[in-house]
Amino acid sequence: MSGKVLILNGPNLNLLGTREPDVYGAETLTDIEAKCRARAVDLGLDLEFRQTNTEGELVDWVQQARETFDLLIVNAGAYTHTSVALLDALKAVGLPVIEVHLSNIHQREEFRHHSYVSKAATGMICGFGGFGYEMALESAQRLLNEK
Ligand code: DQA
Repeated sequence: MSGKVLILNGPNLNLLGTREPDVYGAETLTDIEAKCRARAVDLGLDLEFRQTNTEGELVDWVQQARETFDLLIVNAGAYTHTSVALLDALKAVGLPVIEVHLSNIHQREEFRHHSYVSKAATGMICGFGGFGYEMALESAQRLLNEK
């Protein structure tokens, strides 16, 4: 199995820890990254973890991923609900995609119920806080093993 996984985080996720902790929890993105790194080692996956506030940068990273990675885990933040450009890039790159959200987007405002990312994703994990990223890594390893 080749297991190179890219985790992409979208806008405002750099503020985790101080941003609406009642919704997103107390963990920072650095805390989540550290847990993901440890989990990736256990699972035998090679991990890269990135965050950007810029839609175009997310699109660039998805396009470039074809060369280097086997699977994408994506929490696109608010671009989840708005970005056709990100959806097109995810479809074009042709890699398996696992969508993650810290919060349960279906329990929240109506405008968060629709996800463009879901249209390109094998599956979505939401509502488990930072632990959802670890669940996504476990799912990634299964998907890559099945290949
Ligand atoms: C989020 C949910 C989005 O609706 C929101 O815009 C975010 C974070 C989540 O992880 O719960 O920025 O993706």
